[in-house]
Amino acid sequence: MFDFLKPNPAVALLKEDHIRVKDLFDQFEQATTRPAKKKLVRAVLTELKVHAAIEEEIFYPAVRKPVGKEIMNEADEEHHVAKLLIAELDLMDGSESHFDAKFHVLAENVRHHIKEEEDEMLPKAKGVKLDFEALAEKMARRKETLLADGVAPVGEDTMAKAGKGNGDSPSKAAKRKTPQLPKAGKK
Ligand SMILES: [Fe+2]
Repeated sequence: MFDFLKPNPAVALLKEDHIRVKDLFDQFEQATTRPAKKKLVRAVLTELKVHAAIEEEIFYPAVRKPVGKEIMNEADEEHHVAKLLIAELDLMDGSESHFDAKFHVLAENVRHHIKEEEDEMLPKAKGVKLDFEALAEKMARRKETLLADGVAPVGEDTMAKAGKGNGDSPSKAAKRKTPQLPKAGKK
């Protein structure tokens, strides 16, 4: 059998996660009650935190060099933006004016990120000479642990806490801190 035709267990694990999270995004769009939406957001946050952790701890470092820094750096930055939105949503109780909007933006970002991974990174990664069986096993084990114990706070959690919710509504935040403009004609 040609190597490139063999199923890749590590890539398959990531793609299963992608399918599950996209399905949760679709369910959120269909949900009509606040408790249902809140429950779905919590489920997505858990999925994404665990998924990002196993990618960042195990998969990304394993394929980084051969896949190339251009693709990998972009993925890192997309994770950063997603993790900041995740951290902000984590601090919300679902009643805030920007809760749904923030979640929509997270979903759009993550859908875009998944597309780039599946169109560019994962096809390239599949060609890498690696023990993907062992890698997939390591990822699955780590995933189990993270689901049981939770994911430790990341830098983006600290950033979200430091913002004290001011990032929730930029227009409100701007009103709170209107900069004093110098008066015309005065130096
Ligand atoms: Fe990712």
